[in-house]
Amino acid sequence: MNISVIGVGYVGLVTAAMLAKLNHNVICIDINKEKVDKINNKESPLYEPGLNELLQEVVGKNLKASTDLKDAILNTEISFISVDTPSRKEGEIYTYSLKKVSEQIGNVLKEKKDYHLIVLKSTVIPGTTEDIVIPIVEENSGKKVIKDFGIIMSPEFLREGSALQDSLNPDRIVIGVKDNDKKSLEILKSIYKNFNCPILETNLEEAEMIKYASNTFLATKLSFINEIGNICKKLSVNTNTVAKGMGLDKRIGPHFLKAGIGFGGSCFPKDLNALIYKATELGFNPRLLRATLEVNKEQPFRIIELMDKHNTLKNKKVGILGLTFKGETDDIRESSALEVIKALLLEDVELFIHDPVAMHKVKTIFPHLNYKDKAQEVVDSSDLVLILSEWPEFTKLDYKDKLVIDGKNVFGNGDKKPKNYEGICW
Ligand code: UGA
Repeated sequence: MNISVIGVGYVGLVTAAMLAKLNHNVICIDINKEKVDKINNKESPLYEPGLNELLQEVVGKNLKASTDLKDAILNTEISFISVDTPSRKEGEIYTYSLKKVSEQIGNVLKEKKDYHLIVLKSTVIPGTTEDIVIPIVEENSGKKVIKDFGIIMSPEFLREGSALQDSLNPDRIVIGVKDNDKKSLEILKSIYKNFNCPILETNLEEAEMIKYASNTFLATKLSFINEIGNICKKLSVNTNTVAKGMGLDKRIGPHFLKAGIGFGGSCFPKDLNALIYKATELGFNPRLLRATLEVNKEQPFRIIELMDKHNTLKNKKVGILGLTFKGETDDIRESSALEVIKALLLEDVELFIHDPVAMHKVKTIFPHLNYKDKAQEVVDSSDLVLILSEWPEFTKLDYKDKLVIDGKNVFGNGDKKPKNYEGICW
């Protein structure tokens, strides 16, 4: 099939590459020409394991990038929309890009004779597809949804750092349709026909809500284990063993029970804030979601408390390893590591910093810190080291007898820990 993917962030680019791998002809559309040129040069504009290699394979064959949305809509049968829906100050999602793209698609559909299917992948508050996207497309195209064009809401569940793997092997695919629209449903199902996972058919609002409920549940599970971890730390109990014991219960499951310096990224904090905003607007106080955010906000500072306990907050050289919100990504959005750095800048310490892929991004925020090209140089320059995101290479350094405070459990329960080691919750 000929498919366009509009908006090439993590979700869009990975979706496009996955569709090309499944032998579809794909055009990626973005307003950012620099990104478009990079993709056409077989280079990923973002760090994601395996993505550069896949682009080498498909660009020039069945995937190309362009800024020309009109040409892409006219020459494809399906468009995936994966533009971002960032948070506004109060937590509400900002739908400017989504509205703009819906308007542009509508304008092109006015001239297009053939049926076109629109698949919304962006994370949107329940009601957005029905109340915002459909009316804008209909108004600008003069056409009628279901009769002249199709619309589906199919949220994305991929994780940064393992995005390709996740998009090719999803746990489930959710397909939200309007009024039991069989034609749209069958077209999208044909794309996923070789996927070995459950496909759940829902209405538009249910699909939109499944995404929020999934992300806020996972975030709540993390704040829960971090809270248990904080209690365990005071009791001198190892949270990792406790989590292992809990995870063996099938009702609980072993995933998302790794305590640490708190969750970050472009999704969990944003989605929590958006759902809290919407619930509050509807007159409901979502206390559990608020508590999830509150626990998470304080969690990075547990590492500062530990430093204080070791009297390492005065006149010390502090090494920071890892700046991203988790390992295997260059994404620093809402990274707990940056919160730790901000807090340490108020103390009487000197910072030495390394990250395998994201230093250039952090330099734009904190230009005057001591950045080191190699992780070992950070260890060698510092009196103590904080590990703030999980990269396997951090387990292979020679920490000598320097104090290492691990905020991400990079060493696991194994015996290769540095001599002088302490975990944030273990
Ligand atoms: C998350 C969801 O996991 C995806 O399913 C979803 O598609 C995505 O948001 C999205 O909405 O686009 P992502 O933000 O890429 O994916 O990263 P996660 O792997 O979920 O990690 C989120 C944060 O939780 C990271 O800071 C990570 O270090 C932390 N985490 C995760 C823990 O502290 N402990 C864990 O056990 C797991």
